[in-house]
Amino acid sequence: MSDLALLGGTPVIGGDLPPYPSMGKAEEEAVRAVVQSGCLSGFFGSPGPEFLGGPKVREFEAAWAARFGAKHAVSVNSNTSGLFAAMGAIGLSPGDEVIVPPWTMSATVVSPLIYGGIPVFADIEEETFCIDPEKVAAQITDKTRAIVAVNLFGHPARMADLRALADAKGIYLIEDNAQAPLGMENGKPTGTIGHIGIASLNFHKHIHTGEGGVCVTNDDDLATRLQLIRNHAENAAIHEGVTDLVNMVGFNFRMTELSAAVGLVQLADIERHVAVREKLAERLSEGTRDLAGWTVPAVRDGCRHNYYVWLVKYDEAQVGVSRELFCKALNAEGFPNFPAYLPPLYRLPLFKSRTAIGREGWPFTLTDRTFEDGQCPVTERLHEREAILFEPCAYDVDDALADKMIAAIRKVHAHRADLNAHAEAG
Ligand SMILES: Cc1ncc(COP(=O)(O)O)c(C=O)c1O
Repeated sequence: MSDLALLGGTPVIGGDLPPYPSMGKAEEEAVRAVVQSGCLSGFFGSPGPEFLGGPKVREFEAAWAARFGAKHAVSVNSNTSGLFAAMGAIGLSPGDEVIVPPWTMSATVVSPLIYGGIPVFADIEEETFCIDPEKVAAQITDKTRAIVAVNLFGHPARMADLRALADAKGIYLIEDNAQAPLGMENGKPTGTIGHIGIASLNFHKHIHTGEGGVCVTNDDDLATRLQLIRNHAENAAIHEGVTDLVNMVGFNFRMTELSAAVGLVQLADIERHVAVREKLAERLSEGTRDLAGWTVPAVRDGCRHNYYVWLVKYDEAQVGVSRELFCKALNAEGFPNFPAYLPPLYRLPLFKSRTAIGREGWPFTLTDRTFEDGQCPVTERLHEREAILFEPCAYDVDDALADKMIAAIRKVHAHRADLNAHAEAG
């Protein structure tokens, strides 16, 4: 019999990892105060100060802008709605192309479609898994209107290079900063390097308000257009300074006073919430980096990685066990993990079937671009064979537990021959 839990041995970690305690007394009190005020949302669609939200929303936006050194923060009810609003605000038109990475959450790549824009996929970098500026440059045409860079898993994309490229070509850079709230590239906070950066405050993130998001920008016009799209855009024709009515078809992307009140408390404590995840991920990296066929996340010089995901590159040939079997054995030891992240997003049914808006294939009728496999080989290889991921944001892990997690990985690695013997025995 083997020591491995999958083969009948004792698991290194007994029981589930405890969930991260994201909410405390201060959040509870903030929510109670809003409920007692009776005003759960302060927005009005018509002109007046409430067009920009209630007191907590405005306080939260001011605090967010100050924290990240941005001129404007525009809160929304999700990162997804922030991405939609951003695509509208930059004046995206049917047939315009938006360059996106294939490895991200679907909202990043779906957002251009809402305005008839065409997502164009550019592959990611080997080391950081973020969109590769060289691959982006190769995709730019006279139809390109914007690039969306995602600071994936908490690590900054090459934002300065991408911004320089966007500026040289006269196009927009949108930063999907859902996963990297305190990411940093050469002293600049992620989310503030693009023309618009968008945070997510959904339940799974480092800090959260249940659902929520925040767009930041230093551009007055973009800020106004984001505010209009967020709140029905009824005011567009009379709003001071708005002469361009393109995409002023408004939504309700408004954040509630409850969410803003929670967001204020979470934001005040953001450094602690992020640092605790970083510390865990760094400990896991240090404790396992010597293992053969096991490459822990890289951090580019000058960058801060927030580790929304701790993603290891697994080399099946070197370890000598299939990734899926290794992950199964690790799960059995009590270390929750997944073989792979999401598939390359051009594999989504909507791209394969060229069916997005309506039944006639719009907006794909406006492009010759195709969404075949093979266009982003780095992403495909990582997805199919190499990525193993763990989510530091989900759990409350002290040093002792982290050391058990390391021991679990080392145990499966050391006993890998047992796994193959077991697999061969059927
Ligand atoms: C990279 C990325 N973009 C967008 C989103 C969408 O965020 P939300 O759930 O706030 O709409 C997520 C959520 O996980 C994400 O990770």
